[in-house]
Amino acid sequence: MAFNPKKFIEEAEEIVRKTVGGEKAIVAVSGGVDSFAAAAIAGKALPGRLFAVYVDTGLMRKNETKKVTEAAKKAGLKLKVIEASDKFFSRLKGAEDPEKKRKIIGETFIRIFEEEAKKDKVTYLIQGTIAPDWIESGGLGRDTIKSHHNVGGLPPGMKIKLCEPLREIYKHEVRMVAKELGLPEYIYNRQPFPGPALAVRVVGEITPEKVKIVREACSVVEEEIERASEEAKMELPWQYFAGLLPVKTVGVRGDERSYQYVVVIRAVRSLDGMTANFSHIPADVLQKISTRITNEIKEVGRVVYDITNKPPGTIELE
Ligand code: XMP
Repeated sequence: MAFNPKKFIEEAEEIVRKTVGGEKAIVAVSGGVDSFAAAAIAGKALPGRLFAVYVDTGLMRKNETKKVTEAAKKAGLKLKVIEASDKFFSRLKGAEDPEKKRKIIGETFIRIFEEEAKKDKVTYLIQGTIAPDWIESGGLGRDTIKSHHNVGGLPPGMKIKLCEPLREIYKHEVRMVAKELGLPEYIYNRQPFPGPALAVRVVGEITPEKVKIVREACSVVEEEIERASEEAKMELPWQYFAGLLPVKTVGVRGDERSYQYVVVIRAVRSLDGMTANFSHIPADVLQKISTRITNEIKEVGRVVYDITNKPPGTIELE
């Protein structure tokens, strides 16, 4: 039977009402379609008892705080912005292993939510977890591909209870739900973005400098691919972004030797994120992206194009 977003919303609202009962809930909006849809459903189910927050982790996309605040206003959500970038960077200092990074981020988010929840006597956390998040996080005989920060990244002994109204559905269904909920198109059609944000696009240890580089590079890739798709040069991929490798290579700038970072261009076609094929970006678009990145980001001396499918790769670099 075809997925019916209207019916799904009614059922999800009922689940939220029953789960949370007469208590209060907090929801964290990240700017992605999943958390916005979960927040909008919870907002309908718990009028006056839902607190929406946005955590600025310092790992977000360019101009994200502004975009999220505006979209929340349009969605009728009263949003509190929590500035926490120092907290995230200091906790992630020295962490190189991808799973360790994911667990630190998951735990830091939860501690922030718990602190907020305590202030307003909130006992539930609404999360926009969708099916691939918990499938990839392992358990029940499944291998852990990666601990999604909102599933395997959750710390033991968590004081707040979870409510996840989107748990059983996939991204294309969430988009239908978000559209039905009346969210703006730039939210329901937005490309997916991982919960641990730019931290999983910087391979290895993150620093504010590396995050800044990848943020700028992601913005160039987004702009150029969106332009190419508007000009009908290519289909808009499921996801398109840049990653930063933990190596420097030698190059020349003017007459001088350079020794700078390597940026990876990643763009994939997918239906649900579980499998993916790399997108065929036309050569002139690749050329433009490469030139812009090396011209606009002085720390980058080389740009490479990732032509790996999932499997054996994953969509993100970590
Ligand atoms: P991977 O990299 O596992 O990604 O092939 C599949 C899809 O999931 C996104 N992703 C995440 N989403 N929390 C999320 O909410 C996470 O921890 C996370 N890690 C990856 C990824 O961007 C892709 O769309």
